[in-house]
Amino acid sequence: MTTPEPHVRVRDLRKTYGNFVALDGVSFDIERGETFALLGPNGAGKSTTIEILEGYRDRSSGEASVLGVDPQHGGLDWKARLGIVLQSSGESGNVTVREQLAHFAGFYPHPRDVDEVIAAVGLTDKAKSRIKSLSGGQRRRVDVALGVVGRPELLFLDEPTTGFDPEARREFWELIRSLKREGTTILLTTHYLDEAAQLGDRAGVIAGGTLIDIGTIDEIGGADSRIPLVRWRDENGQHEERTTEPASLVARLFAATGGEPAGLEVRRPSLEDVYLALVAAHGTNDKTMDQLEHSL
Ligand SMILES: Nc1ncnc2c1ncn2[C@@H]1O[C@H](COP(=O)(O)OP(=O)(O)OP(=O)(O)O)[C@@H](O)[C@H]1O
Ligand SMILES: [Mg+2]
Repeated sequence: MTTPEPHVRVRDLRKTYGNFVALDGVSFDIERGETFALLGPNGAGKSTTIEILEGYRDRSSGEASVLGVDPQHGGLDWKARLGIVLQSSGESGNVTVREQLAHFAGFYPHPRDVDEVIAAVGLTDKAKSRIKSLSGGQRRRVDVALGVVGRPELLFLDEPTTGFDPEARREFWELIRSLKREGTTILLTTHYLDEAAQLGDRAGVIAGGTLIDIGTIDEIGGADSRIPLVRWRDENGQHEERTTEPASLVARLFAATGGEPAGLEVRRPSLEDVYLALVAAHGTNDKTMDQLEHSL
């Protein structure tokens, strides 16, 4: 039996704007049914990558295949299999939420039920309101609804929850989990690292147009970066120790102090901690290179 082709395959992707290199040789695959989180600082090249895969921008060089098709030559049948939530959208129409969704649903062969989608993004109360009268976060929910109404096999989400209140983000996570259960493949970018950790199966970290790390959410940054940190206080001041056996350390402290150690905290570094360390290390390397170039 042959392994099914990945839904997204990118090899040595490059994008330049004049002399500026926005993407400098990015390669990754996204398997069928997988949720891949593309992470990175502002200007790293996330939207550029996504928009090339959506067929919105041409690449300068490299290979890209999306649902088995080169996105530069994807036809209408191919587009109907994609769901797209752009980073910024122009949804501010004079039509109502329901009208807009029903209109979009008409473009797809097997759309979802419009009212179910409206409910899933928490806009039932606003279904009959004109989009231009909605708040920023509510308009963003319309963007998400438009991205999923066509029952896509592959869903692109570029910072989908920007402007969402915390409850709306939790509801959005539930919607994405239900899409995952149905087998939808998802490429997500987000600056909310908890969102990436909640939803992602794997992540890639991009900085300065280069993929600096890729792996499952637990693998990003390497095993050492996830070693738990134990903090406590005693008469000598504040202590902290990283250990793979935090329970043993706490037991020893408990025995030595004869009770609860003061200010005890046991913390496993989060994806956000690991991400910040990775990006900082990358930035330091860049600076070192800049300094080297200047001193030469
Ligand atoms: N049309 C363009 N012309 C020139 N430079 C561009 C163009 N589009 C993007 N860039 C540059 O390419 C780089 C990558 O931009 P991109 O939008 O992909 O970043 P991003 O990772 O999505 O950032 P953010 O988190 O802010 O959305 C940036 O430095 C940006 O200024
Ligand atoms: Mg972007």
